[in-house]
Amino acid sequence: MNTKGFNSAIEEVKNHLRFLAGSGCRGFDCSKKSLDIIKSWESKEAFLPETLESIRTDLGDCRRCRLCDGRRNIVFGEGNHSAKLVFVGEGPGYEEDQRGRPFIGAAGQLLTKIIQAIKLTREQVYICNIIKCRPPKNRNPLPDEIKACLPFLQRQIAVLKPDFICALGTFAAQTLLKTKEPISRLRGNFHKYRGIRVLPTYHPAYLLRNPDKKRDVWEDMKMLMNEMGG
Ligand code: URA
Repeated sequence: MNTKGFNSAIEEVKNHLRFLAGSGCRGFDCSKKSLDIIKSWESKEAFLPETLESIRTDLGDCRRCRLCDGRRNIVFGEGNHSAKLVFVGEGPGYEEDQRGRPFIGAAGQLLTKIIQAIKLTREQVYICNIIKCRPPKNRNPLPDEIKACLPFLQRQIAVLKPDFICALGTFAAQTLLKTKEPISRLRGNFHKYRGIRVLPTYHPAYLLRNPDKKRDVWEDMKMLMNEMGG
């Protein structure tokens, strides 16, 4: 370190000490006894690597937003913990809420077919949603509900470390990619979420209402298969 760097480091330390003094700090107790006490507070768990199970445990009987009032089950997500491909949907519907599993209703059956069309099975991929509780009457999730739930999805993705994410529909694509671009413009191209390649496509529920859009989804899935080396 040169003199300039050293002086600026000293300045930073001084500023920090001034800040601590201003906050009422009157010295540090570095006796062995005190340090041993602090060390004994370190829980072993703090050093265990995060897992999907530990994230689920943290989520608990979540009451972080109003959706807890109407839900029957939290739909955390399911599938292969070593999946190369993660599907992210919007949020649980009626069936999913009843059984606590993602994409098992009509849209889910179509998603299962899409997964099979790219020569995979549900057991080989991981399936989850932007929000983990069903909104009343399947309304769109509200921004504060997404905000409350998103950290858990981010942690799931960080543990899974997939090579690819397929974002199903507007909410999944816009939330992961932090954009307001419509899904019709986002689909058909790969984007990046924290270094992971994200392919947005139409939501299976939208396909049930607009079967002519299945062609576009098939184009997207062919791109995905190509990139995945399938
Ligand atoms: N729609 C979604 O976005 N997710 C589900 O789990 C089911 C339907």
